[in-house]
Amino acid sequence: MRIAILPTPEDIAVVAADRIQSLLERKPSAVLGLATGSTPLPLYDELTKRYEAGEISFADTQSFNLDEYVGLPEDHPEGYANFIHRFLVDRVDFPKGAAHGPNVWTGDNDQAAADYDKAIRDAGGIDLQILGIGADGHIGFNEPGGSFASRTHVDVLTEQTRRDNARFFDGDITKVPTHCITQGLGTIMESGEALLIATGAGKAEAVRQLVEGAISARWPATILQMHPNAIVLLDEPAAQGLELADFYREVWAKHQA
Ligand code: F6R
Repeated sequence: MRIAILPTPEDIAVVAADRIQSLLERKPSAVLGLATGSTPLPLYDELTKRYEAGEISFADTQSFNLDEYVGLPEDHPEGYANFIHRFLVDRVDFPKGAAHGPNVWTGDNDQAAADYDKAIRDAGGIDLQILGIGADGHIGFNEPGGSFASRTHVDVLTEQTRRDNARFFDGDITKVPTHCITQGLGTIMESGEALLIATGAGKAEAVRQLVEGAISARWPATILQMHPNAIVLLDEPAAQGLELADFYREVWAKHQA
């Protein structure tokens, strides 16, 4: 795991966008895994800015969202398919139909989850997976207690996650869905690179567990310690609980030199 502690979310966005840009220059047909939520928004703004400046193109790229709520109407603005179109896909040059998400509107969510996992494999797997982290340690919507080997599946959201996400639903937890389809931890672990971004003090405990805690289903993100190519980009408040922060800074600086 490589860890960068950077001054601002915008600095993180630049580092993350550099990695995506260099991947797409090497492999224009790369498959991207996309996270939703607040954390990646500065990154999506940075990618849009680079697209508008002619520095990056998604014309041969496919994307797979990490997850989707179950129970929202298909046109709900906070549904993750709509969210990702609004904040990235429709702002750049992804071809029509190249941005995928779990289809929670077929009437058979278990089958939809299995189909989604297969679609990721059929696309050749995810080259670079962007991840956020929940305050309870989830990645995707893999909540505590889930299997490290899980594939894309239907899951139940914790009350903490629903409370955290109520800000997208008029602050009303009763409007936040209770279920989702999420890529499994096993699915996420097959990505070529896992690029996790965490910002803000609210993520400090989850980040401490992710980087320095024991690998445990209590903190699902800790499985990334076993990923051969995981990069964790943090701002100072998210990194405040790390015992070895100065060492990580030194290692990151040496890698950049
Ligand atoms: C979103 C996702 C989640 C979020 C996490 C953090 O697709 O899979 O794991 O990344 O809940 O959300 P924010 O960034 O809103 O704090």
